[in-house]
Amino acid sequence: MKDSITVFAPATIANLSCGFDVLGLALDGVGDYLKLERNDTPGVLIRRITGMDLPLEASRNVAGVAALALLEAYGRPVGVTLELHKGIKAGSGIGSSAASAAGAVWGLNALLGEPFSETELVGFAMAGEQLASGAAHADNVAPALMGGITLVRSANPLDVARVHCPPELQACVLHPQVELKTSDARKVLKTHIPLSQGIRQWGNVGGLITGLFTEDYGLISRSLEDVIIEPVRSLLIPGFDALRQAALDAGALGFGISGSGPSVYALCRGTDKAAAVGKALEATYTPMGIPFDLHLSPVSPRGVRQVETYPSPQSDT
Ligand code: HSE
Repeated sequence: MKDSITVFAPATIANLSCGFDVLGLALDGVGDYLKLERNDTPGVLIRRITGMDLPLEASRNVAGVAALALLEAYGRPVGVTLELHKGIKAGSGIGSSAASAAGAVWGLNALLGEPFSETELVGFAMAGEQLASGAAHADNVAPALMGGITLVRSANPLDVARVHCPPELQACVLHPQVELKTSDARKVLKTHIPLSQGIRQWGNVGGLITGLFTEDYGLISRSLEDVIIEPVRSLLIPGFDALRQAALDAGALGFGISGSGPSVYALCRGTDKAAAVGKALEATYTPMGIPFDLHLSPVSPRGVRQVETYPSPQSDT
């Protein structure tokens, strides 16, 4: 068994418009780094966090809580020391808490000789989501762990499936630098919906899954619609309607809120289209005076993975 490991855990886009709490995809290039070391003091010790100011106390930290959930199931007196480098800002809408939780359980499982399955790891990482947002949803942690596009058919009991990703699919994410906590973005949601909205939404989920498996970009495009969550949450995102218009005019297949926001995302066919959509989003948002980050990324087929290098302390922000 290894004594230490360094891992990268990717950012994710959850919901994919129509699939609230069930669909998600992994991004490339943006994510968190974790360094884990096994030791003989039972429990989880978080030694250092860079990139963001977050609690070091394991029971108040998403990575700590997820690792503790795994250790409790493992049932033997094992200890782990964690270092975390946040490459994803908390409250960004691209799975910041999920990346930390997924990285922690994947790394710890590797240190213990892989006693747990991928689905079990999703379950442990959900404990981190419960802490972060008050709801144990798996639509970010599943793609963060498994890579690609995932469908959480059921959160309890857990039943997660990998969805085919057409090779030309590209994501474009604009992250306005305003914080929107998932817990707050969940409080504004209606708990009851009219049957007509349900019918429209599950038609879109089925359409999106079918479009992805058959590589039918037209069907994907028509299905990237959210008639339930987006009308409420989009009011919390400055410039949402203008961004949507710009993305669609530039040729995006679809546009919506990434996770609980404030990030927004567009899916595009091909890198040229994604670049054009990125430029259109940038041109639309720059005059608004709100700082933002833009990420262009293919869907990453890989979730959390071992890497050789951990970011240097200079990467602290
Ligand atoms: N499905 C969750 C939500 C994702 O929309 O609240 C949070 O990133």
